[in-house]
Amino acid sequence: MKRHVWRPLYVVIGLVAFILVFRFFYVPTDFGVQERGYTFGYHRLQNEQEWKDYPAKFKGSAYCAECHDENATSIAESGHGIIPCEDCHGAAFNHPEDPETLSIDRGRDLCLRCHSQLLMPSSQRNDLPGIDPTGHNAGIECADCHNPHNPSLEDM
Ligand code: HEC
Ligand code: HEC
Ligand code: HEC
Ligand code: HEC
Repeated sequence: MKRHVWRPLYVVIGLVAFILVFRFFYVPTDFGVQERGYTFGYHRLQNEQEWKDYPAKFKGSAYCAECHDENATSIAESGHGIIPCEDCHGAAFNHPEDPETLSIDRGRDLCLRCHSQLLMPSSQRNDLPGIDPTGHNAGIECADCHNPHNPSLEDM
């Protein structure tokens, strides 16, 4: 073969060799196929522990019930039982240590997110009981009349 054919080939071989050497030093030794095979296993093993140590923002409603059992019991018996506590009170982080307390939002917007009547029925969002935000007791906080942890109309 002529030399002008070999020359670009040397460049390619050099490039491949460089990439292999670079990869050898750069990619951590514990990266690769782990015990669960290719589909879920292709990762850096040490990264598992890093994610386990990552502080969780949300604790879940079962955690809240340990201390606020009154709220947890009453909400569980109501239509609001399917809403996670942290959906209204914000992420718990390390509450009750840090923060010592969670926010309480009595604003109408918190409720209207789900209960503002939509005029164009398009999804299951419209199956929620809806009110007209400007017509339904405008200017008064919803929680003045409805118990957010037990909003049943029968008790009103
Ligand atoms: C280990 C016990 C404990 C757990 C678990 C806990 N809390 Fe609390 N919570 C407290 C204490 C103590 C306070 C501060 C005293 C108080 O106001 O009742 C507080 C305060 C609050 C307040 C403010 C109450 C007020 O009157 O200002 C809210 C809202 C709240 N917690 C919601 C939650 C939610 C939601 C969860 C679950 C993500 C949760 N808590 C989990 C102990 C706990
Ligand atoms: C739909 C939104 C919503 C959900 C879901 C919700 N809360 Fe509340 N929560 C409120 C509002 C609004 C208030 C303020 C009520 C008031 O001032 O009358 C409140 C007040 C509180 C308070 C302080 C006053 C009290 O009633 O003791 C605590 C503690 C609390 N919530 C805990 C919880 C816990 C625990 C859960 C889950 C089991 C939960 N909340 C779920 C909206 C919500
Ligand atoms: C994340 C969505 C969501 C939020 C936020 C929310 N709700 Fe609800 N609400 C629901 C669901 C779901 C039901 C149960 C509907 C059912 O039983 O068909 C419900 C039921 C109700 C009912 C009972 C209606 C009836 O016909 O019995 C009232 C009243 C109510 N909510 C008021 C409130 C108030 C006040 C707030 C704010 C503190 C609020 N909701 C926040 C989803 C929400
Ligand atoms: C002054 C008291 C008062 C205030 C404030 C109030 N409501 Fe009501 N709400 C009622 C009463 C009474 C009913 C039952 C009769 C009716 O449908 O008007 C009701 C009914 C409802 C229903 C059921 C509607 C249905 O068709 O089943 C929902 C949902 C509701 N309210 C949500 C809210 C939300 C969200 C807020 C705040 C944005 C709010 N309410 C503010 C008194 C109040």
